[in-house]
Amino acid sequence: MTRAFSRPVHSSQVTPHRQLEAVVRRHLDSPWRRPISDTARHVVDSLIPWLADFPGLILDAGCGTGESTARLARRHSQSAVIGIDKSAHRLGRARGLPDNARLVRVDLADFWRLAYQRGWRPAAHYLLYPNPWPKPGQFKRRWHAHPVWPYLLALGGAIELRCNWAVYAREFALALEISGVANVEVLSFTAPEPLSAFERKYAASGHRLFRVTANLEMIDHARFALDSDCPVPAFPVSGPAEPG
Ligand SMILES: C[S@@+](CC[C@H](N)C(=O)[O-])C[C@H]1O[C@@H](n2cnc3c(N)ncnc32)[C@H](O)[C@@H]1O
Repeated sequence: MTRAFSRPVHSSQVTPHRQLEAVVRRHLDSPWRRPISDTARHVVDSLIPWLADFPGLILDAGCGTGESTARLARRHSQSAVIGIDKSAHRLGRARGLPDNARLVRVDLADFWRLAYQRGWRPAAHYLLYPNPWPKPGQFKRRWHAHPVWPYLLALGGAIELRCNWAVYAREFALALEISGVANVEVLSFTAPEPLSAFERKYAASGHRLFRVTANLEMIDHARFALDSDCPVPAFPVSGPAEPG
């Protein structure tokens, strides 16, 4: 039996970081020049023939063992569902993936830029329990304070973050609003049917769980300093976007 207990996130930071707005605005306004690895290009491009069979796409960013990827794929059987994680160890524990799901080992900071450049436009995009980086000095490692943030937004779709730290949820929601997203919702929820392995562990340990949702279709990302023009989307935004 799996031991469920885990400690809630503990941090000296109890409110959104004071640099949040400045950092988000800087990333929206200045192109990120870090080279993308050839390995990441190869992995992402190897998905293209498989993707051609599907009318829609769902992303599971930081999928861990792929449990959520498999669930999402069964729930949305007409869509391609890609789980992305950088941990070979976690990905190696994946079991029972349906044919419409694939797991790839790539750093998300590369994956999101490549997906944007290739015109992939997910209908739904899940970030389930990203590493919280709870120390104030780790703030810039959180996805909403990372230089890749504008690419994550420009991919569009219905975005859903789940986490077990109120500060991360609040910062993520504020970063969306600072970036021009109007319909941001933050909810506290329980997870009687956990979507992912960490959700099951945190729910069983009695943590408060938070969900941030927004529709990124209306976002004006033409004003973001992205390093390539927006190609014609390879996937029409369609179909499944319901949370849960
Ligand atoms: C707390 S776990 C959550 C896993 C899964 N989403 C779940 O809910 O069970 C965070 C995951 O994000 C992955 N991760 C962290 N930084 C990443 C990055 N830069 N690129 C890809 N994956 C990353 C880790 O390897 C880890 O599997």
